[in-house]
Amino acid sequence: MTFTNMVLVGVAVFAILGAIGAFTIAYRRSQASRPADPLAGLSAETRRADRSMVGVRIEAPVVVEEDEVVEPEVVEEPAPVAVRVLEAQRVIEVSPEEAGVTRRQFFNRAISATFFSFLGLMTVSSLAMFWPKLTGGFGSDVDAGPVSDLLTQVVTPNGSVVPVFVPEARAYVVPAPPSVSDQFAGFPVVAGGLMALFQRCVHLGCRVPWCATAVGFECPCHGSKYNSIGEYFGGPAPRNLDRFVVEVVDSRFIIKTGSIIETSRATALSVPYPQGPSCIGAVAAAPETGA
Ligand code: FES
Repeated sequence: MTFTNMVLVGVAVFAILGAIGAFTIAYRRSQASRPADPLAGLSAETRRADRSMVGVRIEAPVVVEEDEVVEPEVVEEPAPVAVRVLEAQRVIEVSPEEAGVTRRQFFNRAISATFFSFLGLMTVSSLAMFWPKLTGGFGSDVDAGPVSDLLTQVVTPNGSVVPVFVPEARAYVVPAPPSVSDQFAGFPVVAGGLMALFQRCVHLGCRVPWCATAVGFECPCHGSKYNSIGEYFGGPAPRNLDRFVVEVVDSRFIIKTGSIIETSRATALSVPYPQGPSCIGAVAAAPETGA
């Protein structure tokens, strides 16, 4: 699963959890806002006794001057009076100040929080796309290793050319010939006797593999062919393989993958091609070999 897919799944899960949380909190608040049953938890006998007292008000004994205790009067009142008293108490208990946030306010805030959280996640994921450029990888300067090591790898003791592929730079490191075409004059595409070729075919973008027998690059998609330093030899490709600006820093070969050099089709090759059987078959066009 790619990073983008992971981000999208995470956002979807976050949104669903947020909606469930908002609904749950709203439901609990709506339950809590209901008036509690004043008789809840009482036994049946207690409830009957309580009902028998509805509408009955008991007043405190009245003390007369001679310290004579007078039995309280029992006054019958209609039942709705007790109900009204109870309702008045309930209004006081759930006043707006005590309630704090209304249900509408709560939903508005929940929706706003979800929206801004989603916006924040999208912003972070967008910035993450640029993270490789800030910390390394394709688009930045890539350290391909010590020049001395690369020189021994790209040309074997028996003189065979073996390009070193650098995945982080999407580039082939190849040995540069003693003199390169005037096409590359003025471009810093050779450093420490090495060049770095972009792996992408300039026709339609296929990755171009190395053909050891022909000593060059041959594209399996439509048959474009290039010599060992990416100069155009044949096929539908409109130009040479693209290459990167390179430099040597502290004896290490640095590929500047943010700087791509494009050159037109070679009319004369700096390195001969093919030097053996092709890996994909013959092509019609072939420029003159100049070296
Ligand atoms: S993509 Fe390489 S020849 Fe078409």
